[in-house]
Amino acid sequence: MDSPFGFVAELTYRCPLACAYCSNPVNLSDYTDELNTAQWRRVLAEAHELGVLQCHLSGGEPLLRRDLADLVASANDLGLYTNLVTSAIGLSRPRAEQLRAAGLDHVQISIQAHEAALSDQIAGTPSFQRKIEAARIVKELGWPLTLNVVLHRRNIDRIAEVVRCAELLGADRLELANTQYYGWAWRNRAALLPNRAQLERAEEVVRATRARLAGRMDVLYVLPDYYSQYPKPCMGGWGKRQLIVTPNGDVLPCLAAHSLGLPRASVHEESLASIWAGSPVFQRFRGNGWMPDLCRNCDRRDIDFGGCRCQAFQLTGDASRADPVCHLSPDHHIVTDAVRAANETTCAGEALLDLRPHRG
Ligand code: SF4
Ligand code: FES
Repeated sequence: MDSPFGFVAELTYRCPLACAYCSNPVNLSDYTDELNTAQWRRVLAEAHELGVLQCHLSGGEPLLRRDLADLVASANDLGLYTNLVTSAIGLSRPRAEQLRAAGLDHVQISIQAHEAALSDQIAGTPSFQRKIEAARIVKELGWPLTLNVVLHRRNIDRIAEVVRCAELLGADRLELANTQYYGWAWRNRAALLPNRAQLERAEEVVRATRARLAGRMDVLYVLPDYYSQYPKPCMGGWGKRQLIVTPNGDVLPCLAAHSLGLPRASVHEESLASIWAGSPVFQRFRGNGWMPDLCRNCDRRDIDFGGCRCQAFQLTGDASRADPVCHLSPDHHIVTDAVRAANETTCAGEALLDLRPHRG
């Protein structure tokens, strides 16, 4: 077993936005307790001891933690590379300067579209203008900037405009991430899932953009796995490369694993090293032993690891089945039915705003 490379510190699930594809748990009221500063410092030190190199400070909105700069400074003292994953609401110049002084290495800002009206509508709150101002501050202070845009039926036709927006801001990296259908996104799937024609147009724009901006901006395109033949190698394999600590101190192998009903592992009860090495939640889907025969006997078992456990659970109620995205899966019809519905509807996605996560 290798050491984890990345560590996601979900500092809080509180958030000023209310995006319809939010990956935070739908039962947010179960997560009102948050680790305090001293507890997070201990967790950061344990992550460093475990071999972690990258620390993603995430949420919810991590800027809502008043101790964020202290935590950045602690991670920086340990030699961890720190990435702030933020909506940028609250990233004023004084706050940004404080984080710069604390040693923050990188900033990733989410925008929901290329312009205010649509972005604010998807975010559920006026926020676009503040995001743009924050992105300018990030560049002025000399940080590398990643812009992250979650793609869905409502905004995927505007990728070219999103790219122009990223260029104007001087973004170093643009993440165009098709929605992953867990949690809130799964509940809103009918309004979010694009049709095939939209995806084909989007992929053409991405190809042309990559060629045009090669060497100037990294353009990452996260594939829409419902339209793929094979599933994604989620998290690079269960318990292989990453670990996540939730605001209340639970430790998970992936952002959505809280939904699987696995035994809990908590930093209140065990060290990160002990949880990583032996806790049932990390052991449950490590290696090939848990796989159904279909995957265990498949040439791709060490490439996609049988796909995403959370997606298998979301779609079949059983996390130990092959990911239904796989065209070989006996459950693949669940995905093809959803894709067929997405290609038959004339819905443009307006309904997605009717069902929002509450803000914690
Ligand atoms: Fe991956 Fe399993 Fe499908 Fe093979 S059968 S491609 S291992 S999900
Ligand atoms: Fe949990 Fe894919 S999101 S394994």
